[in-house]
Amino acid sequence: MSKHLLDFKDTDKKDIEKLIDITGKINPEKTNKIPSISLLKFDEPSTRTRLSFSVAAYRLGIKTFESSDISSAKVKGESLKHEIETYKAMGIESLVIRTKEDNIDEYKEFEDISVISGGFGTSSHPTQAILDATTLDKFNKLEKDLPVIYIGDVKHSRVFESGRQLFASLGKNVGVFTHESFLPDDLTNIEVLNSWDEVLEATEAIELLRVQKERIEDLEDSDLNEYIKKYQLTNEILDKSEDDFIALHPMPMNVDIEISEKASLHNKFKYIEQLSFGVPSRIASYMYVMEQYD
Ligand code: CP
Repeated sequence: MSKHLLDFKDTDKKDIEKLIDITGKINPEKTNKIPSISLLKFDEPSTRTRLSFSVAAYRLGIKTFESSDISSAKVKGESLKHEIETYKAMGIESLVIRTKEDNIDEYKEFEDISVISGGFGTSSHPTQAILDATTLDKFNKLEKDLPVIYIGDVKHSRVFESGRQLFASLGKNVGVFTHESFLPDDLTNIEVLNSWDEVLEATEAIELLRVQKERIEDLEDSDLNEYIKKYQLTNEILDKSEDDFIALHPMPMNVDIEISEKASLHNKFKYIEQLSFGVPSRIASYMYVMEQYD
């Protein structure tokens, strides 16, 4: 039976806590080695996730190879089952997948190869959620009885989907503040806020999300301008917030849409600290699926 990291639906709370703990503490230059072969298969663009998995693997002594649907025999009609059997026959022990598809359940069935989500469609991005939670922990926001509030295109966000699962497992509340067209379909256990004042009253930690134009067919400039007026994070909002208020962003960010340029330079905007957990989160994820932590 192989371990996967595709979502947090079947992940024990203690494993999530351990993933966050390792991400927060590990020195990437001093890891125990896991001699192994991993395939990074990215079918959507990625800067942070793909490179941080490559660097994490390098630190762990894991040899990586890269592939994508365009360069594979999938274009000739090969099934996922036959593709995975081929990888296993080559001695590949783990796969990191980024895809526009929402088919994580198909990967859960595979044995003798571990599959990690590097971002599936709108449904899963668990290693991002781990590094987001670790950043909150660094600023003492994880243990506080205050919600994490997501602001932006929540409807199309795999960062939000994995975040809500992770925080639910930890017993932490989650809220959203966004235009009604960007609300998630499933609002179970999600608090909906209606203004920046409500957000600042309710929490000390927010996570901004990009408007995912590539997933929205009929987005007009007028809709975007209306969105910017009401939901953009500005310098004034950050100045008005409590001293220990923090804002996160998984990146890539679109300056002047979800965040103003001045706000992107504000000292309460902690995206650099968040980025610093990119490699550790992927080291922890490899250690988890390869069962190399106790
Ligand atoms: N946050 C994130 O997933 O960034 P990339 O798309 O660059 O991997």
